[in-house]
Amino acid sequence: MGGNILQHVLMLVIWFTCFVLTICEFQETKLMRSRKLFGERTIYVDASSHSRFTTIQAAIDSVPTNNNDWVLISIKAGIYNERVVIPPDKPFIHMNGEGMGRTSVVWGAHEYMLNTSTFASMADNIVVSGITFVNSYNYPPNKNKNPVKPAVAAMISGDKSAYYKCSFLGYQDTLLDDQGRHYFKRCKIEGSIDFIFGSGQSIYEQCVISVNGGVVSPDSISYIAANARSSENDSSGFVFKRCNVTGAGTAYLGRAWKAYSRVIYSNSFLSDNVIPQGWDAWDFVGQENQLTFAEYGCNGSGSDKSYRVKWEKNLSPMEFLAFTSNAYIDTDGWIQKLPLNVLD
Ligand SMILES: *[C@@H]1O[C@H](CO)[C@@H](O)[C@H](O)[C@H]1NC(C)=O
Ligand SMILES: *[C@@H]1O[C@H](CO)[C@@H](O)[C@H](O)[C@H]1NC(C)=O
Ligand SMILES: *[C@@H]1O[C@H](CO)[C@@H](O)[C@H](O)[C@H]1NC(C)=O
Ligand SMILES: *[C@@H]1O[C@H](CO)[C@@H](O)[C@H](O)[C@H]1NC(C)=O
Repeated sequence: MGGNILQHVLMLVIWFTCFVLTICEFQETKLMRSRKLFGERTIYVDASSHSRFTTIQAAIDSVPTNNNDWVLISIKAGIYNERVVIPPDKPFIHMNGEGMGRTSVVWGAHEYMLNTSTFASMADNIVVSGITFVNSYNYPPNKNKNPVKPAVAAMISGDKSAYYKCSFLGYQDTLLDDQGRHYFKRCKIEGSIDFIFGSGQSIYEQCVISVNGGVVSPDSISYIAANARSSENDSSGFVFKRCNVTGAGTAYLGRAWKAYSRVIYSNSFLSDNVIPQGWDAWDFVGQENQLTFAEYGCNGSGSDKSYRVKWEKNLSPMEFLAFTSNAYIDTDGWIQKLPLNVLD
């Protein structure tokens, strides 16, 4: 008799455990499976649910300051009309949406860049996947009649940060790759004027770089990368590796925001949107020897070097390798330690 009750209780416990596990499994996406390995705590955000956080910012605010365990913020598909800020004292956050164009953060502030970006990530050790960030002030460019102003979709100022399958959409100054070591994989960045800019030390791998100046005017001139490396000892630089440079209108590959600007395209497809001269020295005419603008192994009609500026750098294969290998941004293994395999 006693054994029988025990058996029933045991069955109930087993049944309940299975039930809970099934529910949990149901909630898991492929990406979230990794959280078991790393023991990530999960916070859910759903704009249309009352039982969860309805804004991404509220979820970030709930993370304790000086957090040092990975926390997963899992964000349902939807449009989140909010400015989202990860403050410097909240590292180890993994924000995961349901995919580019499915989970979107949209905001339309402009001008003063440091407090208006749709998304600002200021802490170290951040991973973001499957989210689109839009600055709607001048975007989409064909529908928007606002005067053109700097309007940042994302500002990334923390070290050791990775972006996987994210998109950044804007017109002028879309992505402020501000400071720190960053890895962008399978992302899309769209814009016209200096739309990837800042002092970051970054590799963009298998990303789509989409020029949209031509949407506004056929005579528009766009500038893709405006790196702000400012001295010979500054480790900053933007490396585009196996990317696809495409879109509408003509564009320079880059121009020098600061005196030691460094931009490298390697093994990328360059469409005929690329202006044959390739590069612009901007305010540093006469000091071009300090700039490191280089290309290696690119293809497509925009990769023809016959009309490139004479001062484009000719790096040796070994010199290229120093930038195109992940060691440029990662000698301590931080990318491998992320709770998401961004190398995939
Ligand atoms: C941003 O900062 C500038 C300069 O400090 C200030 O004038 C402006 O009001 C701020 N804007 C917002 C949206 O906080
Ligand atoms: C760069 O580093 C070298 C060697 O460490 C040093 O001699 C030089 O003064 C530095 N230059 C600048 C501009 O900081
Ligand atoms: C680059 O992107 C354009 C537009 O999406 C596409 O048509 C083209 O096939 C892509 N090229 C490569 C080499 O991936
Ligand atoms: C350029 O190279 C990429 C792979 O790096 C390839 O997918 C693409 O088809 C090539 N395009 C042209 C026009 O050769």
